[in-house]
This record gives sequence, C-alpha cells and structure tokens, in this order.
Amino acid sequence: MSTGFPLSRTTKPVPEAERAAILAAPGFGRYFTDHMASAVWTLDGGWHDSKVGPLEPFTLHPSAAVLHYAQEIFEGLKAYRHADGSVWLFRPEANARRFARSAKRLALPELPKEDFLASVEELIRADEPWVPRSTGEESLYLRPFMFASEAFLGVRPAARVIYSVIASPAGPYFASGVTGVTLWVSSKYTRSARGGTGAAKCGGNYAASLAAQIEAEQHGCDQVMYLDSAGEGDLEESGTMNLCLITSDGRLVTPALGTILEGVTRDTILALAADFGLTPVERSVSLNELRSGAADGSITEVFAAGTAAVVTPIVGFRGDGYEFTIGNGAPGKQTVALREHVLDIQYGRAEDKHGWMRRV
Ligand code: COI
Repeated sequence: MSTGFPLSRTTKPVPEAERAAILAAPGFGRYFTDHMASAVWTLDGGWHDSKVGPLEPFTLHPSAAVLHYAQEIFEGLKAYRHADGSVWLFRPEANARRFARSAKRLALPELPKEDFLASVEELIRADEPWVPRSTGEESLYLRPFMFASEAFLGVRPAARVIYSVIASPAGPYFASGVTGVTLWVSSKYTRSARGGTGAAKCGGNYAASLAAQIEAEQHGCDQVMYLDSAGEGDLEESGTMNLCLITSDGRLVTPALGTILEGVTRDTILALAADFGLTPVERSVSLNELRSGAADGSITEVFAAGTAAVVTPIVGFRGDGYEFTIGNGAPGKQTVALREHVLDIQYGRAEDKHGWMRRV
C-alpha cells in the first residue's frame, strides 16, 4: 500500500465541553473519537482506499463472512500524552508484528508494518485533542482490526477484507485494578487447544470466553484464570491478560508461549525483570504449584499484564470448592513497583532505555 492514510474528510467534532466531560471520566471502551482509519483489500487488487475519515458505521451484506465464520483479528495499543503535551505510542511495532501473525493464522491478508503504523498515527493526529492529559492511567486506546467483508457463504478465506482503526479514550480497565482482582479458575471452560487460535488475537477467542466470564462473575470473581485444554492443570492466561508470578527466590515466572497470547506487556515485564532483581523465567506452571506456593510462601506475588490492564495485582483465586489468597491479600510491593515503572516509561517520566516509545 504505502500511500499512507490521508485525512480524506473531516467531520463535525464532538463539542469541546462534551469531549472534556468524557475525558474526565472515560471508563473503558465506551466513547469513541471523531474519526476512523480504514482500507480495503481485495484478492485481485491488494490493499487500496486507505484513508482517515469520519467515524461512521460500515455497510455489510448480511452474508459477509465475518458474520458467519468469524474471520476477524484485532489489536490493542495506547497513545499517551506526556507532561509537555507531546503524544507517544508504546511499542507499536510489536503490535504490528503480532497483527501480521494473527492475520496469517486467520487466513487474512498481511498489512505491512508501515501501513499499520501510518493508520494508527494518522488517526491520532486527526483526533489529537482526544488524547487525555493523564492524572492516573488515562490514555487513548487504539483498536486496529480486520475482518472478512466478502458476501459469500462458502467456507474459504474471504476475497474482500476491511481494515480499520478506531480510538477510544480510556481509564483503568478494572475499577479495582490497583487494589487487586480475584480470578476464577474454571474447571469447565478452557481457552485454546494446541494447534488452535490461542496465540492469535482474534474475536473468536473472546466470544468463547464470555460464558467463562459469566461463570467467574457468578462466583464473585473479576476474571477467569484458564488452565490448559490438555488437562495437565497448567496455568495459561486470564483471557484479557497474561499471568506472572514472583517467587521468594527472586524469579519472575510466566507461562511459556504456545497457546497463550504473546502479550506486549508480558514481553515488557520480562525485559524489565532484571532491573528489579528478578530472573525472568518462561515455563509451564501448574495450578498445584501456585496453590502450594501461595500456602508455603514460596510464591509471594501474582499479577496480570496486558495493554488494557497494564499491571494488575492478583490477590486471590477461587475454584470449585477452594479459594486461596496470595501473600496477605494485598497487592505485592514488586508488582506495584513494576506497574509504576511501566507507567513511568509510558508517560515519559522514566528513561526509555529500550527505545520503546514512538512519538506521533
Ligand atoms: C488489550 O489489553 O488490549 C486487550 O486485548 C484486552 C481487551 C480485549 C479489552
């Protein structure tokens, strides 16, 4: 493509006072900015019609493949306003690479990295006033996505696809995010099987998680903790977040990749672990190990990592007939320090030693 995502048409923006009220308490995923980026791919024409235009509904034929076979992928990343007013993205190249991997798994066309970055950046430029001035963890959440729009009911990769980016001002994902959340260990539902789509960021994974999420809420928990589908009793991920444990002998342990999402925040935490005196370890961790480690104190802290959730302390687990807390049931010290450090890098308050920040 490489023609960029030019602003094709502006729209009447949301009035300034209304926008200010939204930015003061954005919640998560409820409000959207004035514009969207989009492009179309066809089998015979490749990528074309890339632009930023007004936020508006799509017109889809009722037989569009995405509505029937869920041929869809998405990404999530955030733009942060620094104290000097400048706007920055955090590791957007990592999202672009993962988007390409997800596309391959869902038999969708690959969007070149430069186009992914241009679409996100041009949208942010068009909607710059929507990037909040943060007092906590407010940011502009970007949601790039791609779906099969061809009108055809046969099961095969679609010959027409739409790519788009929308943006939504965001506050914390969990209301109790800093004080800690409790996870429900589901013995009924699993998230992904070997050879399945677990490593891809596709809508189907999230659709399949909803029944488990209801089960978690019925048991008074905030989210689900999935175990592996092979019945080994290994911890996988939490559906919207990767899991990390801190041990009393200074290790930061996280389940190895394979059937879980390759989280950008997970990767960030692994890269930062040594600065906190922790040795990063990627390996399988069983629920039994977690339970006994929580009981004998060899697992001192647990947290979850994700773009939306940042670093969220996990203070307890429940499952069929059991429950246990981690440490004294309050967020762990190293978890809080890691969380603050990630936020400090993202908001430009700490040195970006890894070159993760990209100015828009
Ligand atoms: C993200 O952290 O960007 C996610 O994908 C979580 C989202 C599904 C709410």
